[in-house]
Parts: sequence; C-alpha cells; structure tokens
Amino acid sequence: MAEFEKANSIGEWFDQRLNVKAFTKVMMTEYWIPKEINFLWAMGALLVMLFKLLIITGIFLLMYYKPDVNMAFDSVNYTIMQEVGYGWLFRNIHGVGASVVFLIIYIHMFTAIYYGSYKKGREMIWLSGMLLFVLFSAEGFSGYMLPWGQMSYWAAYVITEIFGGIPFIGGDLVIWIRGNFYVADATLTRFFMLHVLLIPVVLIGAIAFHFYTLRFPHVNNEEGEFFDYKKESEKYLAGDKANSKVIAFWPDFLSKDFMVIAIFMVFFFYLVFYNNGFAMDPVNFDKADGMKTPAHIYPEWYFLWSYEVLRGFFFEIGGVSGKDLGLMAFGFAQGIFLVLPWLDRSPMVKPANQRPVFKYWFWLLMADLFVLTIFGKLPPTGINAYVGFFASTTFLGLFISLPFLTTIESKIVGGK
Ligand code: HEM
Repeated sequence: MAEFEKANSIGEWFDQRLNVKAFTKVMMTEYWIPKEINFLWAMGALLVMLFKLLIITGIFLLMYYKPDVNMAFDSVNYTIMQEVGYGWLFRNIHGVGASVVFLIIYIHMFTAIYYGSYKKGREMIWLSGMLLFVLFSAEGFSGYMLPWGQMSYWAAYVITEIFGGIPFIGGDLVIWIRGNFYVADATLTRFFMLHVLLIPVVLIGAIAFHFYTLRFPHVNNEEGEFFDYKKESEKYLAGDKANSKVIAFWPDFLSKDFMVIAIFMVFFFYLVFYNNGFAMDPVNFDKADGMKTPAHIYPEWYFLWSYEVLRGFFFEIGGVSGKDLGLMAFGFAQGIFLVLPWLDRSPMVKPANQRPVFKYWFWLLMADLFVLTIFGKLPPTGINAYVGFFASTTFLGLFISLPFLTTIESKIVGGK
C-alpha cells in the first residue's frame, strides 16, 4: 500500500483515499460544454431529475402495492390512494412523472434531430439514447399494467398479442411472454418484476453509458460548430471566459440546468396537485375484467403514434392482409429511428432551419406524428380510418425518402 501522510482536513483525508480532486476536475470543473446552447440542452438533466423522482416515489408505492390479480387493484385504489398517509401524493407524482417523462424524452429526441446531433461522431450518443427510449417504453408499459384496471388489462392484452404476428414463433412467444394462455396472474407478477427490478437496473446502467458516449464527441451546439476544445478550454482556464467557446460542466452548465429544472418543477407540481387526471385513464378506475372488453382500447398518449401506424392499414393490399401490413409498418416504426444517423446522408451539421430540404422533412414529420397521436385515440371508423391510413403511409414515406432527400440536399449546398 502507498504511504499516507497525516491528513489536515476531512477533505484531504478523502482525497488521499479516493482522489476526489482529480475526479471532480475530470467530471465537473474541467468537463467542457459548448457555450452556444439554449434551454433545450437542459432536457437531459431534467430527465435525470424525473428518473430520480420516479425511483423515489416508486419505492414508497412498493411498500403497499400487492402484485396479485386479486389484490393489486384495491392495493392501489384503496390502500395507497385512501388509507396510507400521503399515498395519493406519491401515486400522483409517480403517475404524472411517468407521463411527463415521455414529453421530455420526445423534446430531447427531436431537439437532437432538429440540430443534427446524431451525425458523424455522435452515432453512439444516438444509439444509447434509443436504447433508453426502448427501456423507458418497456418501463412505462409494464407500470401501466400494475394497477390492474380495465385499460391495464386490455392494453396488455393488445400489446402482447402483437408478438403473435411474428412468423412461426409468434403464437408460442405470446404464451411465453404472458406466462399463460391469456393475460393472467403470472403476467402481472412478471411485469411487476420487470418494472421494479430488471428494467430500472438496466436503465441506470444505460444512463451511465449514455453519459459516457457524450464524453468524447462532446454535445452539439446551436450552430453545429466544430472547434478545438483544448484551445478553447485553455482560454477559459486563463480567465478569458468571454472569448472562450466553452463553459465548465460545473458550475456553469449545471447551474443553468437547475434553473430550467426549477421552472419545470412549478409546472410539474401544478399538474400533480391540480390536474393529475390527464395521467390516469377513467376506464382504469374499473377493475380488470377479462370478460368485458372496453369499447375503445388505446395505450397511453406516448404510444399512440405507433399504435396508429399499427391500425392504419385496415384493408388488404396486393394480397397481404391489413393486419399483416399494419404489423410490418409497426415493426418499421419501432426500428427506423435507430438507423437515423445512416438515413440522413447529408454531412451538414446545422439546425434544421438552415438546411434547405431537411427543414421541410422535419416539420412534416412533426405534423404527421401529431396527427397519428390524435387519431390513435379516436375509434378507427369512417373518415378516422382513412386519416390514419394516410398519416401512416406518410410516416413510412418520410423515412424511406430521407436518404434521397438528404443526398439532394448535399448536392444543393455543395457537400458542406
Ligand atoms: C431517458 C433518459 C435520457 C437521459 C437521462 C438523457 C440524458 C442526456 C444528457 C444529460 C445529455 C447532455 C445534455 C443535453 O443535451 O441535454 C444528453 C444528450 C443527448 N441525448 Fe440523451 N438522455 C436520455 C434519452 C435520450 C434519448 C431517448 C435520445 C434519442 C434517441 C437521446 C439522445 C441524445 C443525443 C443525440 C444527445 C446529444 C445532444 C447534443 O449533442 O446536443 N437521449 N442526454
């Protein structure tokens, strides 16, 4: 073991053992972030904050929740909501948090798309972000099942049924996932395990990996500018902060993030106390009943766009049934964002408004996702079915055309 001198302070004592000073430098005070960024770059820190809030409130809920089909509904709606002191508060924070976290994830994702933050050198940031999106989706889906209300049951039924569309193994796979021939007690207990243990543990690892992927390419900036971090950080350390293009992660960047988080929390707790109804479907206040199908089954708002892509194909085309086409389109929608860095063929890293072709593509995608989300909640009958079909084909068309459009864009701007 190395030789240790007597420490003169508690700080020194820890520093001798854990090299705290060097660690703080590398992770905080000399971790460089570009100066030219706006409040949208605070979404990542906001997501960390929301994730912590979900974990803490989830631990409290876990103390009273019963993962059993005969007790789950009452343990949530009576024990937690009415009997346990402040149980309603923990549930509302958890429910509102679970919904709002998706809003922030989407803002974070589409900020990255708008500014081209997934391009050359930043692919791993994008891929690890997509992994987080998949994990959060699984976490949201498994959590929605736990109150064991009507929508918990039937959404679980419909979503697990989707796997039945996979050729050859589909039927067996559905039974394997459910642990039974229908959505039953075994399904509830395994989704409970996924929700409170496996997925959160993997999520923590995935968040750490996402941070690590940011380290070398550095975060993007509003102009998509590449610059010499070494030179700019030397200016900062020499005291010329005004002319340096970088700021330190701590205290500069994080203190601004805290400001955005504080403003967001006012809005968040307004929702928790006065408007929490949007995060809980009224149908879910009826206990799950496998013999009584609700008139309309739909998932939570954040899955509606992909649910509508699944339902959009309601008629046979070229001998392939609407159901199979819907399943293929759904599979496409799930995977296509993952390969975005390779679909965008333009090397230009600029905000969308400075890209002559991509700007139309981006805003059309936003409008299309909005339409898909709205119609995903409506019954797929009459004109709704046709709007759904049109919006779903537009979604597919947008992604299929992206490599061609961005190649044309590169030619227009001369490969810049
Ligand atoms: C859900 C948990 C997530 C957390 C905690 C998280 C956290 C962060 C943080 C702290 C940053 C740096 C600051 C910032 O730009 O906000 C960041 C950047 C980034 N994240 Fe995430 N993120 C998450 C999900 C995602 C998802 C779903 C995607 C997209 C697929 C994504 C893609 C990116 C990209 C591309 C950047 C780089 C932005 C840039 O260079 O300007 N992240 N993330």
